[in-house]
Amino acid sequence: MAEFVVEFGKDGRPVEADGRLDAAAFHRNHAPIWAVLEKFLARKSGDVVEAGSGTGQHVVHFATRTPDITWWPSDLNERHLKSIEAWRTHAGLPNIRPPLRIDLTDPAWCPEMHDGSGPTELLAVFCANVIHIAPWRVAEGLFAGAARYLRSDGRLFLYGPFKREGKHTALSNAVFDTSLREQDPEWGVRDIADLEKLAEAGGLALIETVEMPANNMILAYGRR
Ligand SMILES: C[S@@+](CC[C@H](N)C(=O)[O-])C[C@H]1O[C@@H](n2cnc3c(N)ncnc32)[C@H](O)[C@@H]1O
Repeated sequence: MAEFVVEFGKDGRPVEADGRLDAAAFHRNHAPIWAVLEKFLARKSGDVVEAGSGTGQHVVHFATRTPDITWWPSDLNERHLKSIEAWRTHAGLPNIRPPLRIDLTDPAWCPEMHDGSGPTELLAVFCANVIHIAPWRVAEGLFAGAARYLRSDGRLFLYGPFKREGKHTALSNAVFDTSLREQDPEWGVRDIADLEKLAEAGGLALIETVEMPANNMILAYGRR
């Protein structure tokens, strides 16, 4: 397993007997994130992949509100895959598929999407708080896969802290960036301009930037 995953359930928060993990950030950010996603997803149908789902809590929240959308959570960490599956079972929603094992550093993600047992024409890819807590090649793989699988009207949504033209948008983000790089020199808050290059290489373009609470943003990419 890659060494750069972030483990939930190690901060003293209780882990449910069935493996459901709880992320503190989920409770703060799921409503504002949904308020943005809803504008695009409302009254649409199709398949949405969540990359780096972590606990699996976001996908349950979103799937409850979108019965016509099939959600495909994913991760590469065993405990997280177990937690996602446990949240899926707990929710009992028909529109959440079992979690896919997607390692975003593998630009060919993922086997199910090649052998036909997974989705291939995606309405959206959603990815929250992953690319700054991972090496740059995770961002590269995320954009490469989104470029491959998004349908013509599809969107890649990225949530997290971002830099603009080399500058942090808040002091707290600069402090966070330093702490990330101290943990792993390959981690760090990403610059929108660098992401733009990945998008461009895959025929995607930044369509919308939404300022979010706590100095986060949502970046929405679509086909050029
Ligand atoms: C900080 S957590 C965010 C989880 C969730 N999206 C959220 O917002 O609560 C980062 C997640 O990215 C996953 N991750 C890290 N590297 C990855 C990779 N190469 N491929 C797929 N997922 C990865 C970790 O396992 C972890 O679940």
